[in-house]
Amino acid sequence: MVSIRLENIELTLNKTKILNNVDLEIFDKELFALIGPSGSGKSSLLRVIAGLEKPSRGRIFFGDKDVTNLTSQKRKIGMVFQDYALWPHMSVKQNLEIVLKSSSKMSQEGRDKRIMEVLELLRLEKKIDERPNRLSGGEMQRVALGRALVSNPSILLMDEPLSNLDAKIREGLSLEIVKMVKQLGITTIFVTHDQEEANRIGDRIGLIFSGKIEQIGYPDELYYKPSSNNTAKFIGENFVINGELAGTDEGYAEVKIEERMQVEGKMMDKISEGNPVEVIIRTGSLAISDTDNNRSYIKGKFIAKRFSKGESLSAVELSDGTILTIKDDKEKREIGEEVTISVDPGKTMVFPLKK
Ligand SMILES: Nc1ncnc2c1ncn2[C@@H]1O[C@H](COP(=O)(O)OP(=O)(O)O)[C@@H](O)[C@H]1O
Ligand SMILES: [Mg+2]
Repeated sequence: MVSIRLENIELTLNKTKILNNVDLEIFDKELFALIGPSGSGKSSLLRVIAGLEKPSRGRIFFGDKDVTNLTSQKRKIGMVFQDYALWPHMSVKQNLEIVLKSSSKMSQEGRDKRIMEVLELLRLEKKIDERPNRLSGGEMQRVALGRALVSNPSILLMDEPLSNLDAKIREGLSLEIVKMVKQLGITTIFVTHDQEEANRIGDRIGLIFSGKIEQIGYPDELYYKPSSNNTAKFIGENFVINGELAGTDEGYAEVKIEERMQVEGKMMDKISEGNPVEVIIRTGSLAISDTDNNRSYIKGKFIAKRFSKGESLSAVELSDGTILTIKDDKEKREIGEEVTISVDPGKTMVFPLKK
């Protein structure tokens, strides 16, 4: 098995720069989640690694071997896409067999044995003679995974493989993929635009914006130590608001937003008093306190009670019309009643506002 290393990769298509100065190292046997908004260059990056797209600059290494000029076939890669890409007129077995026939000189006996191994790994042995249209979405994607794995590749690249499936199946299958990839010890890149999926799947996560790697780290690092406001806003569920830096106190920023809102949060960069800031608040850390001695608070009006995931919540409207749902232990409230939301400074980040 192998590590993957990209050095200063640039990809230009039709005079547009799609990838810009991408440096990335994925460890041997690592399950790496690549995440970013739609159009950020995730698929393009996978295609460059797969050898389907030639970078205009930079080098690609698998282990110590420079594969930049190798064809896709010679790179020994398995790929899985969102749309399964199975042959509709072939059985599950034939769909796997055709890959083996084109990639190796195995005997019929050897092929049969390998196909059974892979189908057992994917719990698909009973479906061996079915055509794809008799399978569920989850099963079709497992067959696609079988096609990617059957020729025993040293690297597995998956491009949003679960995006066509509904939430429950998606969650289950993502954990099956983790189990399988770890069992096989195959170096894997899994592309998704869904951060929960990235958290479930990834040993580490790479975040890409506009063709550039914004940050790479363990899931908790991206959450607790975002290196930029872009990462901070993309990861987790947030309430984002602009204000002005009123003062600082031992690494914490005091931000005046308006009469009904003033918050404290961690200073994420150098900012001078009086300058505009962007405040990113983790909504899960908000709670309704109803005490008046709080220095970090948002005031709003109670709208309705809701219940979710074992917690009692209140929907609260802020003066700008934003509605937040927040943990609230008090059972009864009047509609329109003023409530005070306490904002935890340790879970609030203050960045300079970029124009
Ligand atoms: N062949 C191409 N020519 C020009 N631009 C392209 C081509 N393929 C993709 N792009 C552009 O490259 C950017 C990244 O695309 P893509 O890698 O598919 O993003 P993602 O997978 O993150 O959604 C997009 O803006 C897309 O329009
Ligand atoms: Mg894509």
